Amino acid sequence: MNKERVLSGMQASGKLHLGNLVGALRNWVQLQDNYDCYYFVADWHALTTGYADPSIIKESTKDILMNFIAAGLDPEKCTIFIQSRLLLHAELHLLLSMITPLSWLERVPTYKEKQQELKDRDLSTYGFLGYPLLQTADIIIYRAKYVPVGIDQVPHLEISREIARRFNYLYKEIFPEPEALLTEFPKVVGVDGRKMSKSYENAIYLSDSPKEVEQKILTMVTDPARIKKTDAGNPELSPVFQLHKIFSSKEEQEEVAEGCKTAGIGCIDCKRVLIKNIFRVMEPIWEKRNELLNNPDMLYDIANKGTEKANKTAEETMKLVREAMGLL
Ligand code: TRP
Repeated sequence: MNKERVLSGMQASGKLHLGNLVGALRNWVQLQDNYDCYYFVADWHALTTGYADPSIIKESTKDILMNFIAAGLDPEKCTIFIQSRLLLHAELHLLLSMITPLSWLERVPTYKEKQQELKDRDLSTYGFLGYPLLQTADIIIYRAKYVPVGIDQVPHLEISREIARRFNYLYKEIFPEPEALLTEFPKVVGVDGRKMSKSYENAIYLSDSPKEVEQKILTMVTDPARIKKTDAGNPELSPVFQLHKIFSSKEEQEEVAEGCKTAGIGCIDCKRVLIKNIFRVMEPIWEKRNELLNNPDMLYDIANKGTEKANKTAEETMKLVREAMGLL
């Protein structure tokens, strides 16, 4: 078995929503057949910005793990674990901190951007500055070749490559330079038409019940100019249609678009089609989530097995690293 290694993580700072499913998880599921995949919940990363109120981390960690499985990650095919159980990541993070120039961390664009975005939090901490360094340790400790991430993570991957290169240059060629596997996917809008995000409170969560999903879609905004059913609408101005583009067949998209433009159907009719299609995607997830909720040991078993396997791989790397850095 000589598959190339893939690694990715999700930060435990909230529940997963349809945007995470379409934008990341679905792709992870596809990769597990052809690569040696490591997927984990980044709960330490959640503390870098959320240290003052860590109350959501545990729930979020469970929700993410559960959704990993519910969305189709197969623990027989890939290695699933929780970051904070892998103490070796912390060791590598520390050792890498010895060789990482402060200026490299300070110039990562997300550093200042996130501080701006979360102005109400004090992010002038060492942990927050070191966010991309911890992420680097997560990746290179498995000597992963590919990292499936969204475009927002590209600057982090860039510094990971620089740090791997610096280590290799200073000591020994141990680390491949990890590459981002950018996934092209349609932008998933939330129920208010903005990008789906937990911070906008516009998300459809994988943990939502069928009733909640139905309610959220039925109350979605549509083309604001279409007030009465007899008004013709413009589907391109309706977030409902944006979701149809992701979840409905081409024929259905054409049908609802035509019905909207000619006032042949009402917004509720159009939403019913979307609800049906989103249910079709979510039903297997709901089913699997229920199974896991009724059998919590299953999740622990999966995480324990994954931790053991990840630890073994990470320890192999760390032996080389300690040796290279002069440690006994
Ligand atoms: N920073 C990533 C995010 O916010 C999570 C993450 C942590 C990660 N460590 C990683 C992603 C390593 C890829 C590889 O989504």
